Order: sequence, then C-alpha cells, then structure tokens
Amino acid sequence: METREQYTYDEYKETADWLLAAIRIRPKVAVICGSGLGGLADLLSDKTMIPYEKIPRFPKSTVPGHARKLVFGELNGKQCICMQGRFHFYEGYPVNEVTFPIRVFHLMGVESLIVTNAAGGLNEQFKVGDIMFINDHINLPGFAGLNPLRGSNEERFGVRFLCMSDAYDKAFHQMALDSAQELGYQDFVRDGVYCMLAGPSYETVAECRMLKMLGADAVGMSTVPEVILARHCGMRVFGISLITNKVVMDYSSQAKTNHKEVLQTSRDRAEALQRLISNLVGKMD
Ligand code: HPA
Repeated sequence: METREQYTYDEYKETADWLLAAIRIRPKVAVICGSGLGGLADLLSDKTMIPYEKIPRFPKSTVPGHARKLVFGELNGKQCICMQGRFHFYEGYPVNEVTFPIRVFHLMGVESLIVTNAAGGLNEQFKVGDIMFINDHINLPGFAGLNPLRGSNEERFGVRFLCMSDAYDKAFHQMALDSAQELGYQDFVRDGVYCMLAGPSYETVAECRMLKMLGADAVGMSTVPEVILARHCGMRVFGISLITNKVVMDYSSQAKTNHKEVLQTSRDRAEALQRLISNLVGKMD
C-alpha cells in the first residue's frame, strides 16, 4: 500500500472539484456511517452514488466486495453527503488517508459533520442497543503520537495548535435530544465519552478496566481522527455511538466480544438511528 505523509491543499482541492463537477447538489452536511449503519443512504432522495474507487485519490478499499461509496442526495429537505463505509486505521491506512474525505468535504462547502460508529459499552448503566451522544472523546492513539494533524500545518485548513475542548457541538447535542424526544427514544438515548483504540483486536479485561477508570463510557476503533480534522477546518461536529455490545470487565465472565454481535445490534437499531439522524438533519440550518 502506498503511504504518503501528507496530501497537499491542491490535491484535496482537485478531488473536491472533481466531485462538485460530478453532482448537482451543494451539500452542507456530511454523515459518516459506521459499521452496519450504511442504510441511512437509502433514505436520501434524488441520489447520486459514486464508488470510492472512481474518486481521484480516495483510498483504495482493503475489503474486497464491500460496497463503499459516497451517496449524495436530500435527507429531510437538506442536501447531504452520506459516506457509506469509512476508512479505519486498523485496515492499514495511514491516518492521512483515514481522514482524506473530511478535507475534501470541507472544500466542497460542507459545514457540519455527523459521525456514527459502533462501540462497546464501558459504562455499566448502558445497555446493548443504547444510542450514546458523544460529548467528548479520548484519543488514546494520539497519546502515542498518532494524531492526524502531525506534520507541517496547512494554514488554509486551520491552526497549528487546535483547541479540542469544544469539539462536539453543544447546539447539535441539544437538537439531537429534541429529536430523540420527538421520536420517543428517551429510554435508550445516553450521552458519554468515546475512547478510540487502534484495534483491530478487542480489549482485554485489564484494558477495559483501565479505560473505565480514565472516564470513557464507550470504546471503538474509529471516529476520532475524522473529528479532529473536521474541527481543524472549522466544521461543527455531532457524534453518535451505537452501543453494540458490553465490554468484558470481569475475568469470570463467559462473554466474548465478537464482530457478529456488533453487526447484529447495528442492524437491529439501524432504523431508529437513521430516523434520529434524519430528524436532526432536518433541524440543522
Ligand atoms: N471494542 C472496540 N470496538 C468496538 C467494540 C468494542 O467492544 N464494539 C464495537 N466496536
């Protein structure tokens, strides 16, 4: 796999201009669909779909046969981009490829980003199937130097030293709470802190205990790099974790975290999550 330290501003711009020439709409909102949550794209009307492999410089898929595409269209009256399938660090992509679409979206005129993911629940109050609104994150790979902003800074995107204490937009959070209320989802909507690990192995019992002590409510393998880059170029961000499993916190437990359970829970809750996002997007201006 080709690895590049950084893309130039002009390279992001060329991809953005290529996409703008290929579509009629001018989206202001982008949604990244996490594992098993790509069905959101089905709700879009007047769709244009572009597979990642057709888009100049988009990372090449490492998962053969996986439908990975950008879907453009209208969601609840708003022009949107839906990213069906994201790039994960654990697949082998360097972090600048994981985040490549974010700067492209920014240069296309996108101002708001909704990120979704599947996550393991660390908070004992959480149940499988809960929807957690992310109010903060812990970038654990960042502690070891894996930050997508490492390298020379491109001022046209944003500042060298990015403030992250306001990463998740409070107004969007309130709007999402209103959406949850309108839809009658209060019983399974929570909020909390998302912690990213690089994966792909799931966590040991000791690691889960440590993450809980650090203040994390949910753990997953994505989202944080995209959020950092989105904030860097001034996008407003809202994040949702679907709690697909409870992590194993006890040596006597027979439970084993597995991808099948993660996907099954995603499928079971996908429709509720899609309705929530659609309602929220309808409220965004
Ligand atoms: N750990 C890490 N990532 C995950 C999990 C988990 O338990 N569930 C879904 N993604």
